[in-house]
Amino acid sequence: MAPRCWRWWHWSTWRRTRPPLPGSTPSRSRAPVGPDGCAGRPASAKCGGFRQRFSTQEQPPQICVVGSGPAGFYTAQHLLKHHPQAHVDIYEKQLVPFGLVRFGVAPDHPEVKNVINTFTQTARSARCAFRGNVVVGRDVAVPELRAAYHAVVLSYGAEDHRALEIPGEELPGVFSARAFVGWYNGLPENRELAPDLSCDTAVILGQGNVALDVARILLTPPEHLEKTDITEAALGVLRQSRVKTVWIVGRRGPLQVAFTIKELREMIQLPGTRPILDPADFLGLQDRIKDVPRPRKRLTELLLRTATEKPGTEDAARQAPASRAWGLRFFRSPQQVLPSPDGRRAAGIRLAVTRLEGVGEAARAVPTGDTEDLPCGLVLSSVGYKSRPIDPSVPFDPKLGVIPNMEGRVVDVPGLYCSGWVKRGPTGVIATTMTDSFLTGQMLLQDLKAGLLPPGPRPGYAAIEALLSSRGVQPVSFSDWEKLDAEEVSRGKGAGKPREKLLDPQEMLGLLGR
Ligand SMILES: Cc1cc2nc3c(=O)[nH]c(=O)nc-3n(C[C@H](O)[C@H](O)[C@H](O)COP(=O)(O)OP(=O)(O)OC[C@H]3O[C@@H](n4cnc5c(N)ncnc54)[C@H](O)[C@@H]3O)c2cc1C
Ligand SMILES: NC(=O)c1ccc[n+]([C@@H]2O[C@H](COP(=O)([O-])OP(=O)(O)OC[C@H]3O[C@@H](n4cnc5c(N)ncnc54)[C@H](OP(=O)(O)O)[C@@H]3O)[C@@H](O)[C@H]2O)c1
Repeated sequence: MAPRCWRWWHWSTWRRTRPPLPGSTPSRSRAPVGPDGCAGRPASAKCGGFRQRFSTQEQPPQICVVGSGPAGFYTAQHLLKHHPQAHVDIYEKQLVPFGLVRFGVAPDHPEVKNVINTFTQTARSARCAFRGNVVVGRDVAVPELRAAYHAVVLSYGAEDHRALEIPGEELPGVFSARAFVGWYNGLPENRELAPDLSCDTAVILGQGNVALDVARILLTPPEHLEKTDITEAALGVLRQSRVKTVWIVGRRGPLQVAFTIKELREMIQLPGTRPILDPADFLGLQDRIKDVPRPRKRLTELLLRTATEKPGTEDAARQAPASRAWGLRFFRSPQQVLPSPDGRRAAGIRLAVTRLEGVGEAARAVPTGDTEDLPCGLVLSSVGYKSRPIDPSVPFDPKLGVIPNMEGRVVDVPGLYCSGWVKRGPTGVIATTMTDSFLTGQMLLQDLKAGLLPPGPRPGYAAIEALLSSRGVQPVSFSDWEKLDAEEVSRGKGAGKPREKLLDPQEMLGLLGR
C-alpha cells in the first residue's frame, strides 16, 4: 500500500530539488560522471550538444523503462500506442529480454509464454529500443537516466527471495524456490545450482503457485518435460532424481492457500503421482465455504473432494501404480532446518504447529507451542519474492519491498514512475501486471499532457550510450537477442524442444561477436 503523503511538484520545483547525481564511480566506470549525467567532458560541452538537434518543444518525448519483463513491455506498449511520437528505450540487466516470462514461468506452461509475441512486436517498433546487458544502478545511475530522458519508469521486478530467517537456513540442501526456478529455467546466475535430488523426501515451504510449480517440476516424469524449454542440465538432474514424496507446507489452513484452482488440478492429475491430504484438516469446512467468494469456494471444494472422497475411476486408475506422492501439510510454520548428524547438510525441518486467530483470508497463524519434525533431504523455501532498492536516489520501502508510489508515480520524485512487482509487491499474474502497467503509462501521459515533465528536448539514449561506452559496458539490441533466439531454437531442434536456452553470458557475447 502506498503512503498517503504524495506530493506532486511542478517540474520547476523538481529541478531545484532533484537529488544529487552520484558521486561514486560505478564498478565498470572508467570516466567520471558530470553533474548533468554525462561522462568524460565538461558539463557545458556534453548534453548541450544534443540540444542543438531539437529545435522546438514538440520534440518526441524520450522515455526510459528499466526492466524488460511484463511490466516493462506493457508500460512501453501503452506509451507507444497512446503517444504517436513517444520514443521508449527499455534497459535490461540480462542479455535477453522478457524477465520472469523466460526465467519464471514453468517450462510445461508454454502457452503462457505466448505474450512474448506481443512483446516482440513492441520491441520491433521503430520508436522502441531494447538495451540489454545494462545493470541500472551499477552501469548507469537513475539520476543519469533522469537527466537524459523526459521520464523514467522503473519496472525491475523482484529479484530477491524472502528469507525464512530461521536457524539452519544456510545449510546445503536448502534452496530458495527462486533459485530453483532460475536453475531449471536457465537463469545464468543459477546455472551452477545443481541441487542434490538423491533424497527420498523434499519439503516445500509456502503454499503459493510457485510452490506448486516447483513441486510439479520435481515430480513430473522427466520424459514429459523433454519437449519443453527446460534446460538440458536440469533435465539430466531430474532424470536421476530419487525424490518420491514432496510435502507442501502452509502455516495456515486449507481456506488460506495462495495457489489457484488450475494449478491444483494439474497437481491432482499429475501422471505417476497421488495426493496425500488429511481429511482431519477439512473437518467443518463444508459449512464455512458457503459464504466465501466463488473462486475460493471452488478451490476449497476441489481440495475437500480430493481429501475426503474416493477418486473417480480415471483418477484411481492413474493413481494406483503411482510411485510418487505429494501432500499438503497445513497449520505448520517453519521453525528450524535440522542438520544431519555430521552437521553438513539439511536432514529435516522442525515445524511449529499453529492455529488460526481470526477468520477467512485475514486469519493469522499463531503457534500452539507444539512442534513436529519432518525428515527430508531437500528444503525449498517458497514464501515469496522480494524487490531490492536499485539506487540511493530512489525512495524504497524496505518493509513492503516496493517503491512508494501513487498509481505508479514515485512519491516526491516527479518524472519518475514505477510498474509491475516493484510497484505493488511480488504477487499477481501477467494479466494483473499488464493492467497495472497500463495504469502507470496512463499517469505518465497525463503528466506529460499537463506539462509536468521537463520541457524541451532530451538526448535520450545518445547521452547514455556515451556514458556506457566510457564505462566499458556493451549493450545488446533486440536484433542481437533475435540472433541468440535463433541459435537457441536451432540448438533445441535436434531434441524436439522449442529451444535450448543459452546459459553463459560470455558464450552469448561470443555468439554476437563481442
Ligand atoms: C516462478 C514464477 C512463475 C510464474 N508463472 C506465471 C504463470 O504461469 N502465469 C502468469 O500469468 N504469471 C506467472 N508468474 C507471475 C509473473 O511472472 C509476474 O506477474 C510478472 O513477471 C511480473 O512482471 P515484472 O515485469 O514486474 O517483473 P519481472 O518479470 O521480474 O521483470 C523484471 C525485469 O527487470 C530486470 N531487472 C532487474 N533489475 C534490473 C536492473 N538493475 N537493471 C536493469 N534491469 C533489471 C530483470 O532482469 C527482469 O527482466 C510467475 C511468477 C513466478 C515467480
Ligand atoms: N501458474 C501461475 O499462474 C503462477 C505460477 C507461479 C506464480 N504465480 C504468481 O506469482 C505470484 C507469486 O507467487 P508465490 O507463490 O511466490 O507467492 P504467494 O502467492 O504470495 O505465496 C506465498 C506463500 O508463502 C507463504 N508464506 C509467506 N511468508 C511465510 C513465512 N514467513 N512462513 C511460512 N509461510 C510463509 C504464504 O502463506 P500466508 O498466506 O500464510 O502468508 C503463501 O502460502 C503469485 O501472485 C502467483 O499467483 C502464478
